[in-house]
Amino acid sequence: MSDLEGKVVIITGVGRPRGVGRAAALRYAEKGAKLVLADLGSSDNAIGDIEGTSPDLDRVAAEVADAGGDAIAVAIDVSKEADVKRLIEQAVDKYGRIDSMVANAAILAGKGDPLDISLETFMRIQEVNVAGVFLCLRESVRQMRAQGGGGSIVTVGSRASRRGDANIAAYSASKFSVLGLTQSFAMAYAKDGIRINCVCPGAVDTEMYVRQTNDFAAREGVDFETAKKQMGDVIPLGRLTSGDDVAKAIIWFTSDETSHVTGQAFNVNGGSWMN
Ligand SMILES: NC(=O)c1ccc[n+]([C@@H]2O[C@H](COP(=O)([O-])OP(=O)(O)OC[C@H]3O[C@@H](n4cnc5c(N)ncnc54)[C@H](O)[C@@H]3O)[C@@H](O)[C@H]2O)c1
Repeated sequence: MSDLEGKVVIITGVGRPRGVGRAAALRYAEKGAKLVLADLGSSDNAIGDIEGTSPDLDRVAAEVADAGGDAIAVAIDVSKEADVKRLIEQAVDKYGRIDSMVANAAILAGKGDPLDISLETFMRIQEVNVAGVFLCLRESVRQMRAQGGGGSIVTVGSRASRRGDANIAAYSASKFSVLGLTQSFAMAYAKDGIRINCVCPGAVDTEMYVRQTNDFAAREGVDFETAKKQMGDVIPLGRLTSGDDVAKAIIWFTSDETSHVTGQAFNVNGGSWMN
């Protein structure tokens, strides 16, 4: 029996078909976890020059149920305090406690010359990627401390948590912050038996990465699939990372296999950089 059997796991950002969140939800379901799945649940949330997303929260929840999993779906915006509080409340109402939180939701926007990033775009990226993770950490730690018995939280960083990039300055700032929050919360609540680690993916072949692939295809004059292959060829393990590759690392960090690990950042990138 998996040590995740019966554990209550909240995952944010599950609503996209190839995304990390959905892959994690399906893997946790396989292991018998009870899931609380969160995403925007709306297709009209464009702000400034940030594209609206098209999350399909209910479809993913139905997929988990079809696979025999136990799950509820909660539509929230992770950057809103009341929404994140409601997420925890609904999880506790349904399952009585929470054992893990996977703070995965994020937006990639403001790409290109840093001088062209509007303040509105910069701030929205920090609201979702930094304040969203902060709220998920704070509210889940409050609940875990109140119920006792510890817990495990995974944040999702990026290569951009470790190294600046000329084309994604605002996103990189937000992902460095995710690491700062991870280490600070890990230090503060280790005494409560709450472990907090960060998974840092490289180039993951999800909807978030489609535009990068399209840009590369246009630059090289090749089609989308060829672009993906060429981008994968330069990664030492020979392909782009999949959502499922990242999901497996997330699961590992919430399992007993990492019972003495906290405050760490772990790259899942096919070896494309090493630190
Ligand atoms: N795709 C990559 O190449 C890559 C690389 C490094 C890190 N990451 C990180 O991995 C994680 C998952 O990314 P992905 O590639 O699966 O992206 P994705 O865009 O497929 O999924 C992100 C999900 O977050 C949701 N979301 C966005 N804003 C939200 C909000 N305010 N409230 C609630 N939900 C919200 C979206 O609707 C979407 O379903 C993110 O933290 C991302 O930054 C991705």
